Amino acid sequence: MKTYSVTAKAHPNIAFIKYWGNQDDSLRLPSNGSISMNLADLNTTTTVTRNPSLKSDHLELNGATQSGPTLRRIQQYLNLIRKIYKRDGFLEIISTNDFPMSAGLASSASAFAALSIAVAHLFDLHLSQIELSAIARLGSGSACRSIPRGYCEWKTGSRHEDSYATTIAHEHHWPLWDCIAVVENKPKEVSSTKGHSMADSSPLQQVRVMDTQRRLDICRNAIIKKDFGALSEIIELDSNMMHAVMMTSTPPILYWQPTSLLIMQEVKKMHQKGTAAAYTLDAGPNVHVICTEESYEKVEDNLRNIPGIIEILKSPSGSGASVIQPTSPN
Ligand code: DP6
Repeated sequence: MKTYSVTAKAHPNIAFIKYWGNQDDSLRLPSNGSISMNLADLNTTTTVTRNPSLKSDHLELNGATQSGPTLRRIQQYLNLIRKIYKRDGFLEIISTNDFPMSAGLASSASAFAALSIAVAHLFDLHLSQIELSAIARLGSGSACRSIPRGYCEWKTGSRHEDSYATTIAHEHHWPLWDCIAVVENKPKEVSSTKGHSMADSSPLQQVRVMDTQRRLDICRNAIIKKDFGALSEIIELDSNMMHAVMMTSTPPILYWQPTSLLIMQEVKKMHQKGTAAAYTLDAGPNVHVICTEESYEKVEDNLRNIPGIIEILKSPSGSGASVIQPTSPN
């Protein structure tokens, strides 16, 4: 009996060492390796259903039927999977996020991680975790890091098959927290996909890429040894380096807002006063404050006193993507 409907769940991830720029934009083979942490308390849940009466793929996101670029991106992805694995049939995809999508919180990572794992199951592809990570990458680069659990490293690779992420430490090894200070809740002006394609126009990108192995080694060792001092220094440097590339691309991309900078300065002060806290920003103005289990409540209290913050979301380190419900026709 063939499975006709599969539900999968995935978490977004926050990059400690950032992915910015591709060797190959269409395959999303990155210019540099990256390291991230999955976020347990933020969830994307996606149900994929095979429906023979459909004339094309159908996508519903948080209750709203999608058309335009969002639907096209999903269709392109599904076409690629159907082509690679010689499968057919249009799909109905119903996806919900329990965190605000407009807050620029890497929803494409959890979206494509959940979708990939659900589709692979529905199509009976029998893929390993490594293969699942590689196919999630085809949808959104950072999604490959939401497939395995905990702290994950994505090695660049030079072909589709060898560009995937693996776990370097379980989420329970070191339960770090991410306190996300949301300072803007409208969609970003320049998407990550567009930004990646512009990275090489910055004179700083080559230097950033050449120095990546060093930063990856420091970050990986800091996670393994639970060394917050080393981790905080390297993640702030890495975030600043990526934003320096963004700011010096042609045309320049300025994701920071005045409130972003204010928060970064406050985080520095907290750290100087002995609170384990470090900032990192993705392709947007929201500030992710990485902290230890002992410090996150204090960090949250401090953030509440900063003017301009719309809301604070928080999450500890989390697991990987998983299928939560296969159902069969009766
Ligand atoms: C700044 O994975 O969102 O968050 O592959 O085009 O979907 P696409 O890009 P995406 O890029 C993430 C960029 C980043 C850094 C990171 O998560 O490593």
